[in-house]
Amino acid sequence: MNTKIYKLNREDIDYGIIEAAAEEIRQGELVAFPTETVYGLGADGLNPRALEKIFKAKGRPQDNPLILHVADYDQVEELVQFIGEDARRVMDAFWPGPITILFKKSDKVPYEATAGLDTVAIRMPEDKIALELIRRSKRPIAAPSANLSGRPSPTRAEHVKIDLDGRLETILDGGSTGIGLESTVVDLSSKEAMILRPGGIGYEDLRKIVPNITIDSSIISEGEDIVPRSPGQKYRHYAPRSEMFLYSGDLDRVVNRINLELEDYLNRGYKVGIMATDESKDRYSGGSVISMGSRENKETIAHNLFKVLRDFDKLEVDIILAEAVEKSGIGTAIMNRLIKAASGNIFTV
Ligand code: TXA
Ligand code: MG
Repeated sequence: MNTKIYKLNREDIDYGIIEAAAEEIRQGELVAFPTETVYGLGADGLNPRALEKIFKAKGRPQDNPLILHVADYDQVEELVQFIGEDARRVMDAFWPGPITILFKKSDKVPYEATAGLDTVAIRMPEDKIALELIRRSKRPIAAPSANLSGRPSPTRAEHVKIDLDGRLETILDGGSTGIGLESTVVDLSSKEAMILRPGGIGYEDLRKIVPNITIDSSIISEGEDIVPRSPGQKYRHYAPRSEMFLYSGDLDRVVNRINLELEDYLNRGYKVGIMATDESKDRYSGGSVISMGSRENKETIAHNLFKVLRDFDKLEVDIILAEAVEKSGIGTAIMNRLIKAASGNIFTV
């Protein structure tokens, strides 16, 4: 398959291109599109054959359910059994935006979308290209992040092309995505409201809307032993091609420790990448240092994180030594991704 890539100018959107992509969705083809979080690999959410194509293109495990993307509340009504009070408040507070809600699914939703579960994940994205594509396709669009399974999520069209060229019909290039990390996933399908994946909307902000919401403890713990409630959280994820080590603790001690490890790896002939922050990037004595952004503005770190992981792939480093960040605000989501990228290689110094 010859994948087409169309660049869209956000100030002057060519609706003909989006209409053609919407027609491809209706025909059961795959179209990648930007959202405010990461790029999605979209297909008709009501067409089992199209849904199977998503799993095949990504090499996604069959038991990992998809998110259905909608453009208005009416679309939600037909996909769910009911909208509870908490869900209604979360939708009103954060949609369109980076939060995905689990509902009890209606009969209309095929089990291919939910991987056999009776709950369905739904999100209304904020990106205007995404919304226009959903509206014009007249379908809920099922879309996981548009990366090969296990790789960092794509925050630019070029990342989608690197991973999936030839495996999908069209890529809509809307430039780099704003938030850079995936949506928060919340289960509001039963009485126990729970965050299954930290993301674009933080715990603190959610608690203002749903005071009794808790966090699935498996997603912030550094061990690998607790079984997560969201199937996607159990796989190795966001992984660069090289092995990664994550160091957490007081910044001075982290920098010292990484410098020691660096010297050792360099002596052994390794090519070393260092994932630093603006505050520390000039304090390393060698290696390829890339800053994720500023500790004072963790949104910049979220925005750059997946691109930095992919930049280390381009540099072909053998090993990545990374600094942890503080788990507050979007820091919880950043650390969740870093811990997975390091697949458990975490050291507290
Ligand atoms: O920001 C995002 O959420 C992006 C953009 C494209 O919208 N999408 C995304 O999709 O990150 P994906 O497939 O990479 O991650 C969806 C997560 C997975 O961890 C999956 O296991 C979980 O949501 N999920 C989906 N449906 C679920 C369900 N019924 N029960 C539990 N977890 C579910
Ligand atoms: Mg993903």
